[in-house]
Amino acid sequence: MKYTKLGNSELNVSRICMGCMGFGDAQNGQHSWTLDEEHSSEIIKRGLELGVNFFDTAIGYQSGTSEQFLGRAIKDFAKRDEVVIATKFLPRTQEEIEAGISGQQHIECMINKSLENLDMDYVDLYIYHMWDWNTPIYDILDGLNNVVKSGKARYIGISNCYAWQLAKANAIAEREGFAKFVSVQGHYNLIFREEEREMAMLCAEDNIAMTPYSALASGRLSRLPNETSKRFEQDSYAKFKYDATKEQDEKIIQRVAELAEKHGVTMTEISLAWLLTKVTSPIVGATKMHHIEGAVKAVDLKLSAEEISYLEELYIPHSLTGVMAQNKPSNANEKHVWSTGNQKI
Ligand SMILES: NC(=O)c1ccc[n+]([C@@H]2O[C@H](COP(=O)([O-])OP(=O)(O)OC[C@H]3O[C@@H](n4cnc5c(N)ncnc54)[C@H](OP(=O)(O)O)[C@@H]3O)[C@@H](O)[C@H]2O)c1
Repeated sequence: MKYTKLGNSELNVSRICMGCMGFGDAQNGQHSWTLDEEHSSEIIKRGLELGVNFFDTAIGYQSGTSEQFLGRAIKDFAKRDEVVIATKFLPRTQEEIEAGISGQQHIECMINKSLENLDMDYVDLYIYHMWDWNTPIYDILDGLNNVVKSGKARYIGISNCYAWQLAKANAIAEREGFAKFVSVQGHYNLIFREEEREMAMLCAEDNIAMTPYSALASGRLSRLPNETSKRFEQDSYAKFKYDATKEQDEKIIQRVAELAEKHGVTMTEISLAWLLTKVTSPIVGATKMHHIEGAVKAVDLKLSAEEISYLEELYIPHSLTGVMAQNKPSNANEKHVWSTGNQKI
């Protein structure tokens, strides 16, 4: 395994981050294909043995049970200060808004719940999961800064945002003396490369770490288009993300298979080796032991400049999909509220 600094933080992270969305109680959340605690724990243990020290979960994954499984496995198999734990919080709910709960109060409540789920005193990276158009960014940044000041999180990150949102948020944080976002978790892989429009340049300019999710397009970049799996059959959310561009994407997937054969490696290794030339640490989901073993091997695979161009050549820009397709105001005339009114933004 290789390690690198996470953006402007002091965190030293493995080049592969283990995504924990596939762990958790399958009866209790969005996904029916998640692994029970025993199998999740085995994969986490194997990841640690292979040198993975960076783990990504969220309070939203299977109603907090992903956090619970991860927390217990880390207690069993690792030392807390030798791993980097990232979790994410959700936007304010309509009920909270109606009850007058502020963004700051919401965040305090969310971090306390996540720490309880993880059974930890702090997380290393606390991530704003998706842009909350109903909560002023000032309140979010103030709330996150309180979390860092109280020692409940060491650093903060952001996910599913436009470059302009991240640039503006970090500029406000800097002016106010608040903690700034050190990483961004966007949707980025060989068949979905919209982060290259603006985000990649912002990150390079400001040393913000890119830790992309769905690094293997939820498995599509790991196998030939005619192959399937339990998750592939049941993951309707991933189908919704990728089905519209299937035909076009399959041409790129074929090139991944071609290069895999040439190198005598798996398609996973080719897909991740490409992404590793662009980002700090891709987040890879694993639902089988061999998934994490295969992903880790990619760290040592070098692609030539010609191979990288060959993989990139056929990409045609895609419409935003998944969470990013929802990153907009509820009606076209609505503008984002940046502050509660007392602060100049
Ligand atoms: N911030 C966000 O909004 C957001 C959204 C989505 C995900 N995430 C994070 O990103 C992580 C990864 O997301 P993801 O699961 O959608 O994407 P992914 O890493 O692109 O896909 C994981 C899937 O790829 C296949 N795979 C992985 N390694 C393999 C290997 N070595 N050989 C063959 N197949 C392999 C498996 O598919 P099969 O199971 O089908 O075999 C596995 O379930 C999540 O766990 C979560 O932490 C964040």
